[in-house]
Amino acid sequence: MRLSKRVENLPPYLFVEITRKIAAKRAKGEEIISFAIGDPDIPTPPHIIDRLCQAARDPVNHRYPEVDGLPELRQAMAGWYQRRFGLSFDPDKEVLPLIGSKEGVTHIALCFINNGDVALVPDPGYPGFSMGTLLADGEPYYMPLKAERGFLPDLEAIPDDVLKKAKLLWINYPNNPTGAVADLDFFNKVVKFAEQHDLAVCHDGPYTEVAFDGYQPVSFMQADDAREIGVEFHSLSKSFNMTGWRIGMVVGNATMVNALMRVKSNLDSGIPQAIQYAAIEALTGPQDCIEEHNAIYQRRRDLIVEMLNSIGLEARAPKASLYVWAKVPESYNSVDFTADLLDQVGVAVTPGVGYGKHGEGYVRLSLTISDAALVKGLSRLAGWRSTRRRIIRD
Ligand SMILES: Cc1ncc(COP(=O)(O)O)c(C=O)c1O
Repeated sequence: MRLSKRVENLPPYLFVEITRKIAAKRAKGEEIISFAIGDPDIPTPPHIIDRLCQAARDPVNHRYPEVDGLPELRQAMAGWYQRRFGLSFDPDKEVLPLIGSKEGVTHIALCFINNGDVALVPDPGYPGFSMGTLLADGEPYYMPLKAERGFLPDLEAIPDDVLKKAKLLWINYPNNPTGAVADLDFFNKVVKFAEQHDLAVCHDGPYTEVAFDGYQPVSFMQADDAREIGVEFHSLSKSFNMTGWRIGMVVGNATMVNALMRVKSNLDSGIPQAIQYAAIEALTGPQDCIEEHNAIYQRRRDLIVEMLNSIGLEARAPKASLYVWAKVPESYNSVDFTADLLDQVGVAVTPGVGYGKHGEGYVRLSLTISDAALVKGLSRLAGWRSTRRRIIRD
């Protein structure tokens, strides 16, 4: 048996070591408190589940769905964008439902990338951007996201020879893993840059609804002429606590949306229809759950940031997203620190280097931990002590 180079060359899963360690400790009966996973602990709101159950009982929904979803679903998606961002999209040409946004995020590389083409991806970043590129035999070019630039990429620093080979530009705000946000000014610059260098822009925005202190994230599609060069991915996973149901969407440039539809029509057979009806309910029904969930996350965010700072980890309260991005103590790297926390106090966090080499020096803590576990986790963190002497750097 000979595996493809594509599969052989896939980089190792960087969280594998830590995941194994957690499993081994749990197998020995140790209780591990995990801040590592970005998966809402709060259940899907009941009105959405009621609609799902009702639709599941209807035999019409037991058959193959259409790849591009129910027309009512595309209309509900367009309607949500209209109400939330004041943008109108043609539901038949500029909107496409996805089996969770990850599916579209990885598959869109197949629409643009030929062997050796480059996709510009953020580092640290959500792994789907680079993995999709690698699976399409392309090359990711990693744009560093640095604290001093508010974790926005420096587009002007991308070398000309890279830009000549680049076809796709990935951005993601509110950002995973840094929690950074971007404004319309930055998005307008991205559009200009993409026009100048003939790039297609993919903005990944699954966290636009998870925001705090009254802050309201903008959509990339609100930038001038964004629709000429780009699309935005959104997901019901984090907005409506629907990670397990697998439903998301892409909106924007009709050529890009159509290209993804053509690829998908050869790969999958659409989203189970009962889930599509649940999504229509989520998008068109009462929206108060979003504010309710954000109030819970905001309270957790404040408790986590306060505790991290009190034990000497520098962390800022994010304005949006589900993540606190904290600096590890100077004498540790992110993997060592993660292992030390796990061994000393049984708390799991995610090492920043797992999101790319520029994530080194940080760890990510997720706000999707139950209140009971959070209380325990915080008191354990309070007991953590550095076992290393500080390295004085000159
Ligand atoms: C930046 C980013 N994009 C996409 C996804 C995938 O979300 P979905 O559940 O819609 O596939 C995630 C999930 O954590 C994410 O953080």
